[in-house]
Order: sequence, then C-alpha cells, then structure tokens
Amino acid sequence: MIDCKKNGGDGSNNSISERGEAQAAIIAIFGITGDLARKKIIPALYNLYCMGLLNEKTRVVGIGRRKYGAVEYRSFIYEAASKSGCRSNDKKAALRSEEKLASFAGINDYHCADFTDQSEYLGIREYLKKIASENKICNFLYYLSTPPQNFDAIISALGSSGLSKPDFLDISCAGSFVRVVIEKPYGCDLESARTLNSKVLSIFSEEQIYRIDHYLGKETVQNIMVFRFLNGIFEPIWNQKYIDNVQIKVFESDGIGSRANYFDGAGIIRDIIQNHSLQMLSLVAMEPTISAEAESVRNEKLKVLKAIRRFDKKNLANSLAVGQYGCGKIGATPVKGYLEEDGIDKNSATETFAAIKLYIDNWRWAQVPFYLIAGKRMPERLTEVIVTFKPAPHSIFNNLCNLPGPSYNRLVIKVQPDEGISLDVICKEPGFEMNLRPVTMGFNYRTSFDKAMPEAYERLIIDALNGEATLFMRSDEIEAAWAFITPILECVKSGEPELRVYASGSPGPDLCEFFGLNLCS
Ligand code: BG6
Repeated sequence: MIDCKKNGGDGSNNSISERGEAQAAIIAIFGITGDLARKKIIPALYNLYCMGLLNEKTRVVGIGRRKYGAVEYRSFIYEAASKSGCRSNDKKAALRSEEKLASFAGINDYHCADFTDQSEYLGIREYLKKIASENKICNFLYYLSTPPQNFDAIISALGSSGLSKPDFLDISCAGSFVRVVIEKPYGCDLESARTLNSKVLSIFSEEQIYRIDHYLGKETVQNIMVFRFLNGIFEPIWNQKYIDNVQIKVFESDGIGSRANYFDGAGIIRDIIQNHSLQMLSLVAMEPTISAEAESVRNEKLKVLKAIRRFDKKNLANSLAVGQYGCGKIGATPVKGYLEEDGIDKNSATETFAAIKLYIDNWRWAQVPFYLIAGKRMPERLTEVIVTFKPAPHSIFNNLCNLPGPSYNRLVIKVQPDEGISLDVICKEPGFEMNLRPVTMGFNYRTSFDKAMPEAYERLIIDALNGEATLFMRSDEIEAAWAFITPILECVKSGEPELRVYASGSPGPDLCEFFGLNLCS
C-alpha cells in the first residue's frame, strides 16, 4: 500500500492537506533577481499556484539588492511568471490569463537588502515577521538561489538573527517549520563541501536542509525507482551476471550562454557529473530500499557512492577523457568555439566534455563498467541511461552479421527529451529466410499519459514545502560524490589527460578506442 499522505522529515505534521495543496508558508527567496529565480523558480511557483497546489495563504518574499518599488516588483514577477504556461487541474482555467498572473503577482512581496551583510538581517527579520503576522503563517522556507560564494554569509546570518528557528515569531506556532533549500553547486571539491556542510549543520538540523539537484525532480529520474522496484521482472537480471555495461549520458546542444564566469571556474565535471550523473547512477545501481522513505532511499544511494572504486590515476588513459568545444554548427547554425565565448580566457583549459569510466565494487556490480558522459555543444539535447545486457550464452543462429554488435539487448531510460523507456530486442524479419533485426519495444510518457509532466522545480518546491526529503541530497551523499570526483578534478587541473578539441555539433571526442564501444549509437 502506498501512503499518499506523508509526514515531513522534521517530525512536524506536514501532510499534504485534503485539497492536495502544501502547507501554508512564507517562501523567502534570496537572490530573486538572478537568472535561476527568474527562469525556473518563479515560473515553477506560478504553475503550482495555477494548479491549486500552493496553499492559498502562501506568500513569496523576494530578497535582493536591486531597488524595486512595489508596482515595479510585481511587474518583474508578472513578467517572469508569464514565460511559463499556466497549467491547471481545471481545464477551463488552464489558459494563461492576465487575471491569474496578476493574482499570482499579488502573493509576492519584496524586501530590498544586501543579504551578504549581517547587519541587514534585523530588517529582514522584521519584514518576515510582519508578513507572517499579517497572514497568520508560522512556516518558513528559505530558498538560497544566490551564487554559491554567498551561501556561507546567508546561513551564518540566518543563524545569528534567530531566523533559523520558528520561535523568532511573537505568535505561538506549535508544529511549525523552518527549512532551507540550497541550490547547487554545493561546494567545489571535497574540502569545500565539508566546510559548507559543517557550517550549514551548525545552524540547521539535517532535517531542515533541502539540497537541490534538480535532476532528481525530473519525472523519468523518479521513475527509475518505480521501474526497478515495482516491476519484479527486472530485479533478477539487474546485476553483473546479465548486465554488460551502463552508460549515463547528459548531452546538451547549448554552449555556456551567459554563464562564462561560473562555468569557466567549474567545468562540466563539477557542473553535471558530480551531481546529476552521480545521482542518476546511484538510483540505477542501488539496492532495493526498505521503503520509499527519504532515509531509506538516501542510505542505499550513499552505499553506491561509497562503493565506487577510487579513481585510478595510473590507468588514466582508460578511465577519463576530457574535451573542449571548438567552433562548429548546431543544426544549420554556426556557433563559436568555447575560447571565443564572451568572458572566456583565450587560454582556458576548462573541459566542456568529459567521459569517466568507473566500477562499483560490490557483489551486484563487480566488473561492470559504468560510463558517465556529459558534454556541451553536442548535436542534440539528450539525457539517457543505457543499460546494455550481455548476449545470450550460446547462439543457435549463424546469420548475425546485420546485428549491431554482440550485445543487442539494451534498455534505454530516456530522461529527456521524449521521456520514456525502451528495450531493444532481436526479432526475425518476416520472410522465408532467417534474417534477424533489432527492434525496439517502448513506452513514451507523452503518448501513454494524457497529462502534462511537471517541471522538476515544481516537484522539488512542493516536496520541500511538505517536508518530503527523498529527492534532495543528504550531507553524506554530497561528500561521497565529491570524494570520488575530487581526484579526477586534480588530474584535469594538472593537464591530464590531454584536453581534446571537438567541433560543436559533433558527438564529442572520438571515444570508441578509449572505451572500446560506440558511445554515439
Ligand atoms: C544545471 C547546469 O545544473 O543543469 C547547467 O548548471 C545545465 O549547465 C543544466 O545546462 C541542465 O539542466 P536541464 O534540466 O536543462 O537538463
């Protein structure tokens, strides 16, 4: 039996109300004027509002340095929200409407403050208290949507101003919560992640902290667990006896856009592999959990991350490849190379493509290679997990020459776009001869369900409001991921392996020799 009403992780009674909406809270967004808030968080909140999933008492308070008057701020919110289509459970109301946008803008307020300056927190506190008492709300969700260098200052100030606990309010608020959502990047190596964890944990308890990896909010990523643990037919073959290798690809056709400043200091290994790829890997490789509760799932994911064999610098040539995009074409459109992008140092050696081969040293996965591959300026946007099964032990057919290789049973979990799952099997072509062909059986979300797919941020915000932490990363998971990635970053920094330039729009550096398999098929 699946319990559809869950209690929150922090012990309070945070069940979704009878109407399916979240608990009333003040959502205070630090860095409201930044790209992430404008492009993802505000549209997600707007869609939740349209679907009736935000409690009607919810208030959203933007905190930023820009000076906005009330009218100007509401039009900023209006503008950002209008970029998303308003989805609604009520089909008639689903149309994007001026009225809806205006009423959503009306639940938003702004407080101008330099959130890196501790002395501003008295003002922030008074402002939040005012909104709380006007609306009779006792719950707070602080959303840190700022550059990561501000996390430390904000967390410290939330602690010293008393905002980290609900008792800063004058009204009595039994069972209320204060939670903090922290965006990625969470640290830039093992040491910085540990330092950040110890700072955050000195002020908030683990149950109050929601570390975001938005990939965990994607429908298809959530479906990995359902697929594996509710369909009993896969579990018996989900191991080294039957699986030949697993590839996890995160390809984007976009370049770095206007994020030169951040990306050039990060690179694709920090940006994608340390978080999105390793999180998907842990869901694909973990043991069945005792339940779907957050701690149970996170415990199993952690075991996978800890079991990844330490990166072997001596065997570098066979375990790591890095590349940087040169100029080229995406479709028919010519695009610049990485070194020509605005704000990028002409000598930058930052990787925009990386492929890592790793092993998970446990009974289930012994000797099965996992390939984590991520790249910018690839021919198309494509995220998928490909599980390739071992061939049948003995073939009674000789006519195998038109088959794609010895391993042709592939299960493909398509995370995006065209979300779905497919299985490649071998089939006999109709006719009098024994001609064999690979065919694909599959399901696709869009054709199988008459329902819109929620955006990852919508799901994650509603979960944070409801105290449901399964889709957020625990402190030890983050550190285990960095523990594996940090030695790799050190190699890349020291110039090993060689950075290969690939043309934008090409499938990346030629890795067939490196991995001994065709990654582009
Ligand atoms: C972010 C990375 O975490 O994920 C970006 O910082 C990347 O560089 C983005 O473009 C990809 O997200 P999505 O949801 O578009 O696949």
